[in-house]
Amino acid sequence: MNQDEMKKQAALAALEYLPDSGIIGVGTGSTVNHFIDALEPIKGRFEGAASSSEASTERLKAIGIPVIDLNAAGELEVYVDGADESNRQLHLIKGGGGALTREKIIAAASKKFVCIADETKLVDVMGKFPLPVEVIPMARSYVARELVKLGGTPVWREDFITDNGNIILDVHNLEIMEPARLETTINQIVGVVTVGLFAHRPADVLILGTPEGPKTIKP
Ligand code: A5P
Repeated sequence: MNQDEMKKQAALAALEYLPDSGIIGVGTGSTVNHFIDALEPIKGRFEGAASSSEASTERLKAIGIPVIDLNAAGELEVYVDGADESNRQLHLIKGGGGALTREKIIAAASKKFVCIADETKLVDVMGKFPLPVEVIPMARSYVARELVKLGGTPVWREDFITDNGNIILDVHNLEIMEPARLETTINQIVGVVTVGLFAHRPADVLILGTPEGPKTIKP
């Protein structure tokens, strides 16, 4: 079974966590794309979806699911999204696709965060995947210097602008032993919009696609 098949398996397994009606939160990425495809046959159940990116918005609209402004949606029952890395406490690294800020907002506004991924995303210590940090453009060099002081090697994701008009620094060479602490520290750097560490608001359920079938992990 290849990685994409494992992603699809996790995406399909997430369907059982969906409410019978209302508005659902939908994330971003190749795993979520499988999830969106799987929503099509059951789309009549939902009033609509709050989307974490322009890319997912387009995909949702293409299959006829109304996209609803989060400000009008109230608290969401469930948010389904992927991850670049997860540990066993379901702390995550997210933002490989650059949608981390809207993803973090929707995760915060949701009662349950169901994370879907293939088994390669589960790690003991996070940081092998470069940590994305969304930054106000004029603060890029300053924030990069501060991230170096924390032991990381920030790399500007050139030719990439987020849906919010900002830039991304991908921080390499981190070994993240205390995810919540690092999240707080990076959040304090002036000019940082969002750090792609989801430790203060981790996932509630992690569904991993594996060759043996979907595996569910709860903290
Ligand atoms: C998007 O910004 C990310 O947070 C994605 O959720 C993450 O990169 C997972 O992507 P894939 O599902 O494509 O692996």
